[in-house]
Amino acid sequence: LRAGPLSGKRVLVTSGPTHEPIDPVRYIANRSSGAQGTALAVALRDLGAEVVFVTGPASVAPPDRVELHKVETAQQMLEAVQTALPVDAAVFAAAVADWRVEGSHAQKIKKTAHGIPEMKFSENPDILATICAHPTRPALVVGFAAETQDVIAHARDKRLRKGCDWIVANDVSPATGIMGGSNNTVHLITETGVEDWPPLPKAEVARRLAARMAKALA
Ligand code: C5P
Repeated sequence: LRAGPLSGKRVLVTSGPTHEPIDPVRYIANRSSGAQGTALAVALRDLGAEVVFVTGPASVAPPDRVELHKVETAQQMLEAVQTALPVDAAVFAAAVADWRVEGSHAQKIKKTAHGIPEMKFSENPDILATICAHPTRPALVVGFAAETQDVIAHARDKRLRKGCDWIVANDVSPATGIMGGSNNTVHLITETGVEDWPPLPKAEVARRLAARMAKALA
């Protein structure tokens, strides 16, 4: 590991979407590519941190020189995150599916016979909120907020509701091209207020955030 301001710090990053199975061949997911989470893991690692990287099925390759944990579902992601504790800081960049299919089928659902299947959902655990309320809560917890309207208001509310220190908020309306794209326009919400960052490559958003985290942890 490289020496740097985060040397000796263990930092957890969640990244990517989760896949919630309907049956062995079908799933429910979202458009997260894992690009921002991966860039963050790289930036934190390059500042000297020991990075635990818990990723759902992302479309970008995971970084090297991190402790890699690949998961599929939100429940598996929660387990991997809990196992990784204690850590000094945690960034929850994953786009976790809010719901999973209740009683997903062990065999492929056939098109014939019973007509169109009906699905019931149940709520997935909120990993960020769970870790914020954990007995070994990391000293610094950063959440993300992907919104398509009232970005700042929702993100402020989310910071308080989930109990995290900072929220990185971004507008993921299709017109912004953020999901799956290489740039990001974010607002950093902390206990002291809101910072509007300019449009930046995701790698640069990651480097700035990692530097801020290093300062906060120093
Ligand atoms: O509630 P919402 O999904 O908008 O919150 C976003 C933040 O919460 C992100 O940091 C995301 O990684 C985290 N989250 C989570 N577990 C969930 C849902 C969201 O950790 N089930």
